[in-house]
Amino acid sequence: MEKLTERLFLREFTNQDMDAVAEFRRDPRYLEYYYRPPYTREECVRFVDECIAWSKESPRCKFQLAITDRSNGVLLGDCGVRTESVESRRGDIGYELSPVYWGQGFASEAVRVILQVGFEDLDLDEIEARCVVANERSVQLLHRLGFEETERISLGPGRGGFAARILPERCVFLLNRDKWIEHTHVF
Ligand SMILES: CC(C)(COP(=O)(O)OP(=O)(O)OC[C@H]1O[C@@H](n2cnc3c(N)ncnc32)[C@H](O)[C@@H]1OP(=O)(O)O)[C@@H](O)C(=O)NCCC(=O)NCCS
Repeated sequence: MEKLTERLFLREFTNQDMDAVAEFRRDPRYLEYYYRPPYTREECVRFVDECIAWSKESPRCKFQLAITDRSNGVLLGDCGVRTESVESRRGDIGYELSPVYWGQGFASEAVRVILQVGFEDLDLDEIEARCVVANERSVQLLHRLGFEETERISLGPGRGGFAARILPERCVFLLNRDKWIEHTHVF
């Protein structure tokens, strides 16, 4: 999948993206709300390999796209929407940018695209996002895109890849299709 926006080109990952991912995933600013040591090179290889593997699945229920600057091809980060099966009408999103590129609206611009992929390509009815309450940049991004907080989870183990870690208070945000359509038209 490839998507163009005003400033970005979203595309599938390739093995050449490894160094750029490894570079920002060891930045302390990036790691602040992950409560873990810097990602090792092997973990970054596994991440990129997994994104590439998802891109080859058919039917496809997971998209994790590289976010690049459309003017020069530089990798800025990545974002994705995932669901457990093609029958499922609920999915979740994730997004991350190199701290070098924070504060310019690039993540919001990319996540708008990924929401469209979720609601249109995956035909989801609702999309969830979870984030640590203290991660203000992420919370603001979700509000900006129309998400509403539906639940708070107190300090405890994470889920999925975060199951081995104790995470601080987190919030669950949801965006349903109607709210997304309404929000897309207003802004
Ligand atoms: C979460 C994360 C992606 C947010 O990055 P970000 O750059 O703050 O997000 P946005 O793209 O929405 O940019 C918003 C900022 O750009 C500014 N901006 C400039 N032009 C803009 C535009 N055209 N549209 C929107 N915002 C714009 C906004 O005013 C805002 O600035 P502020 O931070 O000074 O208030 C980033 O902090 C990150 O990668 N963190 C580490 C990984 C992570 O925590 N991921 C989320 C896990 S839940």
